Amino acid sequence: MTASQRAEDVRRLTKRLVLRGGAVVARGQLNRKPARCDLSPAPEGSGLQAIPGDKGLPILGHALGAATLPIEFLESRLETYGAVSWMRGFAMPIVLALGPEASQEVFANSDHVFSQRGQEFFSGRFFKRGLMFLDFEEHHFHRRIMQEAFNRERLSGYLHSMDTICRDAAARRDDELLVYPYLKRTLLDIATVAFMGDEPGPQSDLMSKAFTECLHAATAVVRFPVPGLRWWAGVRGRRTLEQYFHANIDARRNSGGDDLFAALCRARDEDGNQFTDDDAVNHMIFLMSAATDTSAAAATAALHQLALHPEWQGRVRAESAEISDGRLDLDALDRMQSLGMVINESMRLLAPVPAIFRKTLKDTSIQGYFVPADTMVVVAPLFNHYWPGLWSDPHAFDPERFSDARREDRSHRLAFVPFGAGAHKCIGMRFATVVVKVLIHHLLRDHRIEMRPGYTLEWDMTALPAPTDGFPVLIRRVSDSNKNMTVAT
Ligand code: HEM
Repeated sequence: MTASQRAEDVRRLTKRLVLRGGAVVARGQLNRKPARCDLSPAPEGSGLQAIPGDKGLPILGHALGAATLPIEFLESRLETYGAVSWMRGFAMPIVLALGPEASQEVFANSDHVFSQRGQEFFSGRFFKRGLMFLDFEEHHFHRRIMQEAFNRERLSGYLHSMDTICRDAAARRDDELLVYPYLKRTLLDIATVAFMGDEPGPQSDLMSKAFTECLHAATAVVRFPVPGLRWWAGVRGRRTLEQYFHANIDARRNSGGDDLFAALCRARDEDGNQFTDDDAVNHMIFLMSAATDTSAAAATAALHQLALHPEWQGRVRAESAEISDGRLDLDALDRMQSLGMVINESMRLLAPVPAIFRKTLKDTSIQGYFVPADTMVVVAPLFNHYWPGLWSDPHAFDPERFSDARREDRSHRLAFVPFGAGAHKCIGMRFATVVVKVLIHHLLRDHRIEMRPGYTLEWDMTALPAPTDGFPVLIRRVSDSNKNMTVAT
């Protein structure tokens, strides 16, 4: 065994232990005794209530339990304290605003009280001035310009390269496949072509490493650069990305192209406003990261469900075979309704962005509870997707709940929020839906995926969800005569 294999084994083992440790923390650490609230009390006569809650473990608070077994953890919070409660995590008090009503107040943000500084705390250092970290008027100004790069016509242009790259990747894949690395690699190749207008190759590997370093740095425990640790690697990754985009910006402004980078460099809002060089670079760095790990998580979750449910896999394959034999277009993708329902149901069961953070700029309230200024507030899309009363049997995989006949996702405006809601709702939502469909369509059209007997997928939830072992599957060719069978044989 080589040193790097040994290091990999240790890494896996540590992750598993963290997951098991998290289970104990999530189930056992809820302190049901009344605790002194870390937040300042409601002003007298305000009529607002103090938020119930507890600290959790010394130093860590509840961060470990919340990150490792989030659904169980949030279920116990709801049961113990109700929809709004406080806890400690990352050495600060955090207010949980759970469920559709509480999250609606935060997303609606009618008094401009909930700032993106909450998101910035985790990843702002490495994705600074990305669209998601801007607030209010400035955010609105940038979003209007960026919107131009995401219209249907542009999407149709990006689809062309997605289709080619996914088809080639599916043709090249091995019979034993690690799903997550395969999807990440393919998504980065798509980003290289559709976003940067470059060719996939060694450059993609360099960029992939730099993005991963930035993403992992967001959840670093030691939040200053110590050589070899996550934060330090994130600083290095950010520098690599800035150098790459700055070196290419003049060419994109002058000669244009069909890629997103060119679109951003040239995009104007209705008043003719354009991005500066720094703006375009900052937006690209954030967009690349916003697009890849989220879409990889969504596609992995869907492929996992399809491997668990061969009847749905057969149905999706039959639909793919019927709808498209040649080049994909947006209309063909819209007609892949079974695949659409499977993707939605998989994102419901495992929201690719499980939690969304905000920081209060002034004293405010959520659901009648007092929330002081400068408090971190968390909304959990993950948990809206299990909220009592909105979904029938929420823990079950049941894509038909998204069918026209049932539309459980419409049981509340915020029942289904994998892409968030309000002013910061994902600008790449349509792009993401398209890319995840194209990836799965090409992988499953001619092949069946199976898991080894007894295999269980474990998710690492310490950053965006990712399988701890990459999710190994076996790939079997499906004969042409079997493609239209709705149940895989
Ligand atoms: C399945 C894949 C994806 C999921 C689940 C997802 C989820 C989200 C969520 C929940 C937010 C809201 C964050 C907040 O409220 O603070 C968001 C924002 C954003 N997403 Fe996505 N996203 C996905 C794919 C993409 C893709 C493919 C792109 C770009 C091509 C993208 C670009 C963005 C941007 C720029 C924002 C910030 C929007 C703003 O602040 O106005 N996302 N995404």
